[in-house]
Amino acid sequence: MSKNEFARPPLDVIFDTDLGVDDAMALLYLHASPHIRLRAICTGVGNAPVEMTTRNCLYMCERFGIDVPVFEGEGVGLDGTNHLPPPHMIHGDDGLGNINPEVRARAKESQSAPDYLVSALNSAPGEITVITVGRLTNLALALQSDPTIATKVRNVVVMGGATGKNGHTGNVSPVAEANVFGDPLAADQVFGADMSTAMVGLDVTQQVFMDETYFDGLREHGGDAGQFIHDISRIYNNFHREWKNLDGCYVHDSSATIYAVHPEMFTTQRGQVRVQDEGVGAGQTILSPGVQSWFVDEWRDRPLIDVCVDVNKNAVLDDYLSVIARLA
Ligand code: BDR
Ligand code: CA
Repeated sequence: MSKNEFARPPLDVIFDTDLGVDDAMALLYLHASPHIRLRAICTGVGNAPVEMTTRNCLYMCERFGIDVPVFEGEGVGLDGTNHLPPPHMIHGDDGLGNINPEVRARAKESQSAPDYLVSALNSAPGEITVITVGRLTNLALALQSDPTIATKVRNVVVMGGATGKNGHTGNVSPVAEANVFGDPLAADQVFGADMSTAMVGLDVTQQVFMDETYFDGLREHGGDAGQFIHDISRIYNNFHREWKNLDGCYVHDSSATIYAVHPEMFTTQRGQVRVQDEGVGAGQTILSPGVQSWFVDEWRDRPLIDVCVDVNKNAVLDDYLSVIARLA
């Protein structure tokens, strides 16, 4: 770490997650990074039902001494449905690679995740970065209940979406990424809110790849956390092997957390994003670059957001390993 990096004040972060395997890896990064002060975790449905993702967060807090409150969020999307059933074959029956996580003492907070977001952002205007690595339901509900939080959040970093850069267009359909597909209405509201938002989509997260040799390195250098990452990723990596013929996995959620700390590792394009909410294109994120006028102008008056279009993948991988090694 350079001298300048020591001088950087840590980022205050709320982590919103559907805690499955890659979310767990991102949470460990947030916990270990000297540049992050984790304030709280919000949960939602996605990689597993919401009760399970909450349980997984509590389990990780207990096991790794992550001393932050956990606020449970929504179990369905804004339209009251679940567009995508939890994918057992990717994250395991428990959402954590079938390690059977048991919580001994930790309990979730009584306040809901959307209510917590509203109160936390109002209590610290300009200070908090919200990193979402699940569906955007909690944040959309928080914005509905108090639109002024858009002016109070410091940054929003969204793992979700895809715009076709680098050939990556979707992972649950030819055009849709899972977190956006899971609640397209919420995603459209978040990308339409006038706040500082970055979209870290498949365009870059599928450029960053951890192979089995990399996972061996995590186990070797990461102590209990490295062993844990290795254990929970077996089913996840098998899915990538069987469905995609890949020897390892894409790095979705950790890429978003690393963006929050190291945006210089990514190339972004400013643009306006709309989300298709129904039909065969449901969940598609459609980028209008810059500010342009169209004959069909559903993008008019939408805020500009930073869409990640390229990434220094080796820098991301090196950073992840070095941060996790701090936990050894
Ligand atoms: C995203 O979907 C979830 O299953 C993963 O955890 C990640 O956040 C990738 O499309
Ligand atoms: Ca996730």
